Amino acid sequence: MLSTYLTRDWGLKVPIIGAPMTPMSGGSLAAALSNCGALGMLGVSSTQPVEQLERDVDDYRRLAGAHPFGIGLMVWALDARPELLDAAIRAKPFVIAMSFGDPAKYMPRMRDAGIRVASQVQDRQSARAAEAAGVDLIVAQGTEAGGHTGGVGTLPLLQIVLETVRLPVVAAGGIASGRGLAAVLAAGAAGAWIGTPLLVAEEARNSPVARRKVIEALETDTVHTRVFDVVQRIPWSPRFPGRALVNAFTQRWAGHEDELARDDEARRVFQHAKQAEDYSNALIYAGQSVGLIHRIEPAASIVDRIAADAESALRAATAVVPLAPSGPLS
Ligand SMILES: Cc1cc2nc3c(=O)[nH]c(=O)nc-3n(C[C@H](O)[C@H](O)[C@H](O)COP(=O)(O)O)c2cc1C
Repeated sequence: MLSTYLTRDWGLKVPIIGAPMTPMSGGSLAAALSNCGALGMLGVSSTQPVEQLERDVDDYRRLAGAHPFGIGLMVWALDARPELLDAAIRAKPFVIAMSFGDPAKYMPRMRDAGIRVASQVQDRQSARAAEAAGVDLIVAQGTEAGGHTGGVGTLPLLQIVLETVRLPVVAAGGIASGRGLAAVLAAGAAGAWIGTPLLVAEEARNSPVARRKVIEALETDTVHTRVFDVVQRIPWSPRFPGRALVNAFTQRWAGHEDELARDDEARRVFQHAKQAEDYSNALIYAGQSVGLIHRIEPAASIVDRIAADAESALRAATAVVPLAPSGPLS
Protein backbone atom coordinates (compact mmCIF):
# COMPACT_ATOMS: atom_id res chain seq x y z
CA MET A 1 0.00 0.00 0.00
CA LEU A 2 1.27 3.45 -0.90
CA SER A 3 0.49 6.24 1.55
CA THR A 4 0.69 9.91 0.51
CA TYR A 5 -1.35 13.10 0.85
CA LEU A 6 -3.61 11.80 -1.95
CA THR A 7 -4.49 8.62 -0.05
CA ARG A 8 -4.60 10.18 3.41
CA ASP A 9 -6.30 13.50 2.65
CA TRP A 10 -8.12 12.92 -0.65
CA GLY A 11 -9.19 9.36 0.16
CA LEU A 12 -7.69 7.71 -2.94
CA LYS A 13 -6.56 4.08 -2.75
CA VAL A 14 -3.61 4.74 -5.03
CA PRO A 15 -1.77 8.06 -5.49
CA ILE A 16 -2.67 8.34 -9.16
CA ILE A 17 -4.81 10.99 -10.85
CA GLY A 18 -6.03 10.45 -14.40
CA ALA A 19 -5.15 13.56 -16.39
CA PRO A 20 -8.00 15.51 -17.94
CA MET A 21 -7.57 14.85 -21.65
CA THR A 22 -9.85 16.21 -24.32
CA PRO A 23 -11.63 14.43 -25.81
CA MET A 24 -10.31 11.10 -24.47
CA SER A 25 -11.16 11.42 -20.81
CA GLY A 26 -14.94 11.37 -20.80
CA GLY A 27 -17.27 9.78 -18.27
CA SER A 28 -16.25 6.18 -18.99
CA LEU A 29 -12.52 6.66 -18.47
CA ALA A 30 -12.98 8.89 -15.43
CA ALA A 31 -15.40 6.38 -13.88
CA ALA A 32 -13.05 3.45 -14.53
CA LEU A 33 -10.27 5.34 -12.75
CA SER A 34 -12.31 6.44 -9.76
CA ASN A 35 -13.83 2.96 -9.41
CA CYS A 36 -10.38 1.41 -9.07
CA GLY A 37 -9.17 3.80 -6.40
CA ALA A 38 -7.44 6.47 -8.51
CA LEU A 39 -9.10 9.82 -9.28
CA GLY A 40 -10.80 10.21 -12.66
CA MET A 41 -10.88 13.63 -14.32
CA LEU A 42 -13.10 14.89 -17.14
CA GLY A 43 -11.26 16.96 -19.75
CA VAL A 44 -12.89 20.14 -21.07
CA SER A 45 -11.56 21.72 -24.26
CA SER A 46 -11.67 25.45 -25.00
CA THR A 47 -14.15 24.91 -27.85
CA GLN A 48 -16.51 22.20 -26.63
CA PRO A 49 -20.17 22.94 -25.87
CA VAL A 50 -21.27 22.99 -22.23
CA GLU A 51 -23.67 20.13 -23.03
CA GLN A 52 -20.69 17.84 -23.70
CA LEU A 53 -19.45 18.35 -20.14
CA GLU A 54 -22.96 17.75 -18.82
CA ARG A 55 -23.20 14.48 -20.77
CA ASP A 56 -19.78 13.40 -19.48
CA VAL A 57 -20.84 14.12 -15.89
CA ASP A 58 -24.06 12.11 -16.40
CA ASP A 59 -22.06 9.20 -17.87
CA TYR A 60 -19.65 9.38 -14.96
CA ARG A 61 -22.39 9.28 -12.33
CA ARG A 62 -24.17 6.39 -14.08
CA LEU A 63 -20.93 4.37 -13.97
CA ALA A 64 -19.32 5.53 -10.73
CA GLY A 65 -22.22 6.85 -8.64
CA ALA A 66 -21.10 9.18 -5.89
CA HIS A 67 -17.35 8.47 -6.18
CA PRO A 68 -15.39 11.74 -6.27
CA PHE A 69 -14.13 12.97 -9.65
CA GLY A 70 -12.40 16.00 -11.10
CA ILE A 71 -12.85 18.38 -14.03
CA GLY A 72 -9.94 19.96 -15.92
CA LEU A 73 -10.34 23.50 -17.29
CA MET A 74 -7.96 25.74 -19.20
CA VAL A 75 -7.67 29.09 -17.46
CA TRP A 76 -6.94 31.06 -20.64
CA ALA A 77 -10.22 29.90 -22.20
CA LEU A 78 -12.46 31.05 -19.35
CA ASP A 79 -12.55 34.77 -20.08
CA ALA A 80 -14.22 34.07 -23.41
CA ARG A 81 -16.18 31.05 -22.14
CA PRO A 82 -17.17 31.65 -18.49
CA GLU A 83 -20.04 29.19 -18.98
CA LEU A 84 -17.49 26.34 -18.83
CA LEU A 85 -16.58 27.27 -15.24
CA ASP A 86 -20.28 27.70 -14.38
CA ALA A 87 -21.02 24.20 -15.67
CA ALA A 88 -18.01 22.71 -13.89
CA ILE A 89 -19.10 24.21 -10.57
CA ARG A 90 -22.71 23.04 -11.10
CA ALA A 91 -21.41 19.49 -11.55
CA LYS A 92 -20.06 19.49 -7.97
CA PRO A 93 -16.75 17.74 -8.64
CA PHE A 94 -14.33 16.96 -5.81
CA VAL A 95 -11.62 18.98 -7.57
CA ILE A 96 -11.28 21.37 -10.49
CA ALA A 97 -7.91 21.59 -12.21
CA MET A 98 -7.15 25.10 -13.43
CA SER A 99 -4.29 24.76 -15.87
CA PHE A 100 -2.34 26.93 -18.28
CA GLY A 101 -2.80 30.29 -16.58
CA ASP A 102 -3.14 32.02 -13.20
CA PRO A 103 -6.28 30.73 -11.46
CA ALA A 104 -6.40 33.57 -8.86
CA LYS A 105 -9.48 35.42 -10.05
CA TYR A 106 -11.57 32.25 -10.27
CA MET A 107 -10.65 30.92 -6.82
CA PRO A 108 -13.43 32.51 -4.71
CA ARG A 109 -16.23 30.87 -6.73
CA MET A 110 -14.69 27.41 -6.42
CA ARG A 111 -13.92 27.90 -2.73
CA ASP A 112 -17.48 29.10 -2.05
CA ALA A 113 -18.75 25.92 -3.69
CA GLY A 114 -16.48 23.79 -1.46
CA ILE A 115 -14.48 22.47 -4.43
CA ARG A 116 -10.76 21.74 -4.15
CA VAL A 117 -8.48 23.24 -6.76
CA ALA A 118 -5.41 21.82 -8.47
CA SER A 119 -3.24 23.67 -10.95
CA GLN A 120 -0.80 22.37 -13.56
CA VAL A 121 2.35 24.48 -13.66
CA GLN A 122 5.32 24.43 -15.99
CA ASP A 123 7.94 26.61 -14.23
CA ARG A 124 8.86 28.17 -10.88
CA GLN A 125 6.95 31.37 -11.54
CA SER A 126 3.66 29.64 -12.34
CA ALA A 127 4.08 27.41 -9.26
CA ARG A 128 4.47 30.54 -7.11
CA ALA A 129 1.39 32.11 -8.72
CA ALA A 130 -0.71 28.98 -8.11
CA GLU A 131 0.36 28.83 -4.47
CA ALA A 132 -0.38 32.54 -4.01
CA ALA A 133 -3.81 32.00 -5.58
CA GLY A 134 -4.57 29.49 -2.83
CA VAL A 135 -4.86 26.19 -4.71
CA ASP A 136 -4.76 22.89 -2.79
CA LEU A 137 -2.49 20.87 -5.07
CA ILE A 138 0.18 21.74 -7.60
CA VAL A 139 0.81 19.54 -10.61
CA ALA A 140 4.36 19.91 -11.94
CA GLN A 141 3.89 19.19 -15.64
CA GLY A 142 7.09 18.44 -17.50
CA THR A 143 7.69 18.84 -21.20
CA GLU A 144 7.62 15.05 -21.70
CA ALA A 145 3.85 15.20 -21.22
CA GLY A 146 1.39 14.62 -24.01
CA GLY A 147 -0.77 17.57 -25.05
CA HIS A 148 -0.01 21.20 -24.25
CA THR A 149 2.93 21.73 -21.95
CA GLY A 150 5.93 23.92 -21.22
CA GLY A 151 9.58 23.38 -21.99
CA VAL A 152 11.11 22.11 -18.72
CA GLY A 153 11.58 18.37 -18.11
CA THR A 154 9.59 16.63 -15.38
CA LEU A 155 12.61 15.84 -13.20
CA PRO A 156 14.12 19.36 -12.97
CA LEU A 157 10.66 20.90 -12.77
CA LEU A 158 9.57 18.62 -9.93
CA GLN A 159 12.68 19.52 -7.92
CA ILE A 160 12.15 23.23 -8.62
CA VAL A 161 8.48 23.15 -7.65
CA LEU A 162 9.15 21.09 -4.51
CA GLU A 163 11.72 23.60 -3.31
CA THR A 164 9.42 26.53 -4.15
CA VAL A 165 6.03 25.71 -2.66
CA ARG A 166 4.79 24.29 0.63
CA LEU A 167 1.75 22.62 -0.93
CA PRO A 168 1.46 18.97 -1.95
CA VAL A 169 2.89 18.46 -5.43
CA VAL A 170 2.01 15.81 -7.98
CA ALA A 171 4.24 15.03 -10.98
CA ALA A 172 2.98 14.85 -14.57
CA GLY A 173 4.78 14.04 -17.78
CA GLY A 174 6.36 10.77 -18.78
CA ILE A 175 5.16 8.58 -15.91
CA ALA A 176 3.90 5.27 -17.28
CA SER A 177 5.32 2.56 -15.05
CA GLY A 178 5.91 1.66 -11.43
CA ARG A 179 9.49 2.84 -11.82
CA GLY A 180 8.28 6.30 -12.81
CA LEU A 181 5.76 6.54 -9.98
CA ALA A 182 8.35 5.27 -7.47
CA ALA A 183 10.86 7.86 -8.68
CA VAL A 184 8.56 10.84 -8.20
CA LEU A 185 7.29 9.57 -4.83
CA ALA A 186 10.87 9.11 -3.66
CA ALA A 187 11.62 12.66 -4.79
CA GLY A 188 8.82 13.99 -2.61
CA ALA A 189 5.77 14.10 -4.87
CA ALA A 190 2.39 13.06 -3.48
CA GLY A 191 1.53 11.10 -6.61
CA ALA A 192 1.43 11.03 -10.38
CA TRP A 193 -0.92 12.65 -12.89
CA ILE A 194 -1.04 10.29 -15.82
CA GLY A 195 -2.33 10.92 -19.34
CA THR A 196 -0.51 9.20 -22.20
CA PRO A 197 -0.73 5.63 -20.77
CA LEU A 198 -4.52 6.04 -20.59
CA LEU A 199 -4.85 6.94 -24.28
CA VAL A 200 -5.00 3.20 -24.98
CA ALA A 201 -7.25 2.30 -22.05
CA GLU A 202 -10.35 0.41 -23.15
CA GLU A 203 -12.56 3.11 -21.62
CA ALA A 204 -10.83 6.08 -23.29
CA ARG A 205 -12.78 7.98 -25.94
CA ASN A 206 -10.27 7.05 -28.60
CA SER A 207 -10.47 5.22 -31.91
CA PRO A 208 -8.88 1.82 -32.64
CA VAL A 209 -6.66 3.42 -35.30
CA ALA A 210 -5.37 6.09 -32.92
CA ARG A 211 -4.76 3.51 -30.19
CA ARG A 212 -2.72 1.41 -32.64
CA LYS A 213 -0.62 4.48 -33.58
CA VAL A 214 0.13 5.16 -29.90
CA ILE A 215 1.17 1.55 -29.32
CA GLU A 216 3.41 1.56 -32.41
CA ALA A 217 5.08 4.90 -31.58
CA LEU A 218 8.55 5.05 -30.06
CA GLU A 219 9.70 7.48 -27.39
CA THR A 220 11.54 9.37 -30.15
CA ASP A 221 8.37 9.86 -32.22
CA THR A 222 6.91 12.95 -30.52
CA VAL A 223 7.30 16.64 -31.29
CA HIS A 224 6.50 19.75 -29.22
CA THR A 225 4.71 21.94 -31.72
CA ARG A 226 2.20 24.74 -32.30
CA VAL A 227 1.20 23.61 -35.78
CA PHE A 228 -2.05 21.92 -34.74
CA ASP A 229 -3.21 25.00 -32.82
CA VAL A 230 -2.25 27.28 -35.68
CA VAL A 231 -4.05 25.21 -38.32
CA GLN A 232 -7.16 24.91 -36.14
CA ARG A 233 -6.97 28.62 -35.15
CA ILE A 234 -7.12 27.81 -31.44
CA PRO A 235 -5.61 30.76 -29.55
CA TRP A 236 -3.21 28.83 -27.29
CA SER A 237 -0.34 30.88 -25.90
CA PRO A 238 3.00 30.15 -27.64
CA ARG A 239 4.25 29.32 -24.10
CA PHE A 240 2.42 26.01 -24.38
CA PRO A 241 3.00 24.13 -27.61
CA GLY A 242 1.43 20.67 -27.75
CA ARG A 243 3.34 17.39 -27.66
CA ALA A 244 2.05 15.15 -30.43
CA LEU A 245 3.16 12.22 -32.54
CA VAL A 246 5.38 13.34 -35.37
CA ASN A 247 3.85 12.99 -38.84
CA ALA A 248 4.03 14.44 -42.35
CA PHE A 249 2.05 17.51 -41.25
CA THR A 250 4.40 18.40 -38.36
CA GLN A 251 7.42 17.73 -40.54
CA ARG A 252 6.09 20.06 -43.26
CA TRP A 253 4.91 22.92 -41.03
CA ALA A 254 6.98 22.99 -37.80
CA GLY A 255 9.01 26.18 -37.98
CA HIS A 256 6.66 27.65 -40.63
CA GLU A 257 3.72 28.51 -38.40
CA ASP A 258 3.21 32.05 -39.82
CA GLU A 259 2.97 30.66 -43.33
CA LEU A 260 0.66 27.87 -42.11
CA ALA A 261 -1.69 30.40 -40.51
CA ARG A 262 -2.34 31.93 -43.95
CA ASP A 263 -2.52 28.68 -45.92
CA ASP A 264 -6.16 27.70 -46.57
CA GLU A 265 -5.16 24.61 -48.52
CA ALA A 266 -3.15 23.28 -45.55
CA ARG A 267 -6.21 23.86 -43.39
CA ARG A 268 -8.36 21.86 -45.82
CA VAL A 269 -5.80 19.03 -45.89
CA PHE A 270 -5.77 18.93 -42.09
CA GLN A 271 -9.57 19.00 -41.70
CA HIS A 272 -9.99 16.26 -44.28
CA ALA A 273 -7.32 14.13 -42.60
CA LYS A 274 -9.01 14.59 -39.23
CA GLN A 275 -12.35 13.40 -40.58
CA ALA A 276 -10.76 10.50 -42.46
CA GLU A 277 -8.55 9.51 -39.49
CA ASP A 278 -5.51 9.87 -41.71
CA TYR A 279 -2.85 10.32 -39.07
CA SER A 280 -0.17 11.20 -41.55
CA ASN A 281 -1.75 14.68 -41.38
CA ALA A 282 -4.18 14.55 -38.44
CA LEU A 283 -3.06 14.98 -34.85
CA ILE A 284 -2.51 12.58 -32.01
CA TYR A 285 -1.42 14.34 -28.86
CA ALA A 286 0.80 11.97 -26.86
CA GLY A 287 3.84 12.18 -24.60
CA GLN A 288 7.26 10.57 -24.63
CA SER A 289 6.02 7.68 -22.50
CA VAL A 290 4.45 6.23 -25.68
CA GLY A 291 7.67 4.19 -25.75
CA LEU A 292 6.35 2.32 -22.70
CA ILE A 293 2.87 1.56 -24.03
CA HIS A 294 2.47 -1.88 -25.52
CA ARG A 295 -1.17 -2.99 -25.34
CA ILE A 296 -4.81 -2.04 -24.96
CA GLU A 297 -6.21 -2.91 -21.54
CA PRO A 298 -8.71 -1.69 -18.96
CA ALA A 299 -7.75 1.49 -17.11
CA ALA A 300 -7.87 -0.44 -13.82
CA SER A 301 -5.15 -2.83 -15.06
CA ILE A 302 -2.91 0.11 -15.98
CA VAL A 303 -3.41 1.75 -12.58
CA ASP A 304 -3.04 -1.50 -10.61
CA ARG A 305 0.19 -2.39 -12.38
CA ILE A 306 1.77 1.05 -11.95
CA ALA A 307 0.84 1.17 -8.25
CA ALA A 308 1.95 -2.41 -7.46
CA ASP A 309 5.24 -2.03 -9.35
CA ALA A 310 5.92 1.32 -7.65
CA GLU A 311 5.50 -0.32 -4.27
CA SER A 312 7.97 -3.08 -5.20
CA ALA A 313 10.42 -0.53 -6.60
CA LEU A 314 10.25 1.56 -3.43
CA ARG A 315 10.77 -1.51 -1.22
CA ALA A 316 13.78 -2.49 -3.34
CA ALA A 317 15.09 1.08 -3.16
CA THR A 318 15.55 0.85 0.59
CA ALA A 319 18.61 -1.32 -0.21
CA VAL A 320 20.25 1.88 -1.50
CA VAL A 321 20.35 3.15 2.08
CA PRO A 322 21.84 0.31 4.13
CA LEU A 323 20.93 0.36 7.78
CA ALA A 324 23.70 1.91 9.88
CA PRO A 325 25.59 -0.80 11.76
CA SER A 326 24.35 -0.83 15.34
CA GLY A 327 26.95 0.32 17.82
CA PRO A 328 28.15 -1.65 20.86
CA LEU A 329 25.61 -1.97 23.63
CA SER A 330 26.53 0.15 26.56
C1 LIG B 1 -4.47 13.68 -25.67
C2 LIG B 1 -4.20 14.61 -24.53
C3 LIG B 1 -5.11 15.62 -24.24
C4 LIG B 1 -4.89 16.47 -23.16
N1 LIG B 1 -5.83 17.41 -22.86
C5 LIG B 1 -5.69 18.16 -21.75
C6 LIG B 1 -6.73 19.04 -21.33
O1 LIG B 1 -7.78 19.13 -21.97
N2 LIG B 1 -6.54 19.78 -20.20
C7 LIG B 1 -5.40 19.67 -19.46
O2 LIG B 1 -5.29 20.33 -18.43
N3 LIG B 1 -4.39 18.87 -19.83
C8 LIG B 1 -4.52 18.09 -20.94
N4 LIG B 1 -3.51 17.22 -21.30
C9 LIG B 1 -2.28 17.16 -20.49
C10 LIG B 1 -2.50 16.26 -19.28
O3 LIG B 1 -3.29 16.91 -18.31
C11 LIG B 1 -1.20 15.83 -18.58
O4 LIG B 1 -0.43 16.93 -18.21
C12 LIG B 1 -0.32 14.90 -19.39
O5 LIG B 1 -1.05 13.95 -20.10
C13 LIG B 1 0.65 14.18 -18.42
O6 LIG B 1 1.74 13.63 -19.07
P1 LIG B 1 1.76 12.22 -19.84
O7 LIG B 1 0.92 12.45 -21.06
O8 LIG B 1 3.20 12.00 -20.13
O9 LIG B 1 1.16 11.18 -18.94
C14 LIG B 1 -3.72 16.34 -22.38
C15 LIG B 1 -2.81 15.33 -22.67
C16 LIG B 1 -3.04 14.45 -23.71
C17 LIG B 1 -2.07 13.35 -23.99
